[in-house]
Amino acid sequence: MSVLPSKVTLVDVGPRDGLQNESAPVSTDAKVELVHRLQSAGCREIEVTSYVSPKWVPQMADNHAVMSGVRRAPGVRYSVLTPNMKGLDAALLDRPDEIVVFGAATEAFSQRNINCGIEESIERFRPVVAAALAAGIKVRCAVSCALGCPYQGEVTPDEVERVVVLMKGIGVQHCGIADTIGVGTPRKAQAAIERALKHFPLHEVSGHFHDTYGQALANIYACLEMGLHTFDASVAGLGGCPYAKGATGNVASEDVVFMLDGLGIETGIDLGRLVDAGAFISGVIGRPPVSRVARALLSKRAVA
Ligand code: HMG
Ligand code: MG
Repeated sequence: MSVLPSKVTLVDVGPRDGLQNESAPVSTDAKVELVHRLQSAGCREIEVTSYVSPKWVPQMADNHAVMSGVRRAPGVRYSVLTPNMKGLDAALLDRPDEIVVFGAATEAFSQRNINCGIEESIERFRPVVAAALAAGIKVRCAVSCALGCPYQGEVTPDEVERVVVLMKGIGVQHCGIADTIGVGTPRKAQAAIERALKHFPLHEVSGHFHDTYGQALANIYACLEMGLHTFDASVAGLGGCPYAKGATGNVASEDVVFMLDGLGIETGIDLGRLVDAGAFISGVIGRPPVSRVARALLSKRAVA
C-alpha cells in the first residue's frame, strides 16, 4: 500500500469557479459572506474572484467590491484570476496573495476561453507574471483541458507538458492541472500530473478536477498515491466554466474533506462548518448542494 500524504491543502474555488457559472446574479454581499463562512470553516486558501472582462463573465464584474468586502483572516491566502495586464492592474489594487493565469492544453479551448491561441496567451501572461512577482505576489497557473477538451476531444500528456513548460518558462511558481470538463480517469490524471512534476516540485503542483462524470474523487485519490497534497475543490460542488458547456462543478469540498477525514489526512477544515457554508450559498442560489456528503449530513441533521 502506498503512503499517502499526512496533510492536504485544499483551495476552495467556490466563490470564483462556482459563482462565475451561475446564470442568476449572486449579490456581492452573498459572495463576501461565503468567503467569511469558508474561512471560519478553516479554509486557508480561497479563490475569491476573477479580473476578467465583464462582457465575457458578468458574474465576476464585482471583483473589487468582493475583495474589498472580505474581512481578511490571519493565515488565509486569497487568490484571484488575472488573464492580462488590465486584470492584473485592477487586481493589484486589491492586494491578493496569489494570482492565477489560466491557459489551456488545447488551441481550441484557449481561443474560446481567452480569445487567443496558446503561444499568444503565454505572451500575454509574461508581463502579468513579471509584474506580480515584482509586487511580491505568488503566481499560479491553471492548465485547462489537461484531461480532455470539449472542442478537440482527447488530449495527450505531451500537449499538457508543452504548456507546463511554457508556464515554467515565464516564471510561474505553481502549476495547476485542470480537468475542465471532468472526463479524466485516475490513470489519465496521474499521467498529466507526472508531466507537471517533471518541471515543478511536488508542493507546487495541484489538481483541479471537475466532477461532471463522477470521477473527481477517484482522480484525487490517484494523485494522493503519487504524494500530491494540494487540490482545488468547490464548496457545495458549485461551478463550471462558461466556455465549457455542460461541464458541471468542481469536486465538492465537502466530499473531499469527508474522504480525507476518513483517510486520517489533515486539512484543518471543519466538515460541519463547511457543510453550513455550502448550505448557505445553496440557499442563495436556490439549489441543494451537489455534494453527496453535504446532502447526507443535512438530511441526518433534519431527522435528528
Ligand atoms: P479580448 O476581447 O481578446 O480582450 O478578451 P481585449 O484586450 O481585446 O479587450 C476587449 C475588451 O475587454 C475591452 O473593452 C477591454 O477593456 C476589456 P472595450 O474596449 O470593448 O470596452 N478587457 C477587460 N475588462 C476587464 N478586465 C480585464 C479585461 N481585459 C480586457 N482583465 C479576455 C480577452 C481574456 C479579457 C477575455 O477573453 C476574458 O475575459 N475571458 C474570460 C474567460 C474566463 O473568465 N473564463 C472562466 C475562467 S477560467 C476557468 O474557469 C478554468 C479554470 O477553472 C481551470 C479549469 O477548470 O480548467 C481556471
Ligand atoms: Mg475550473
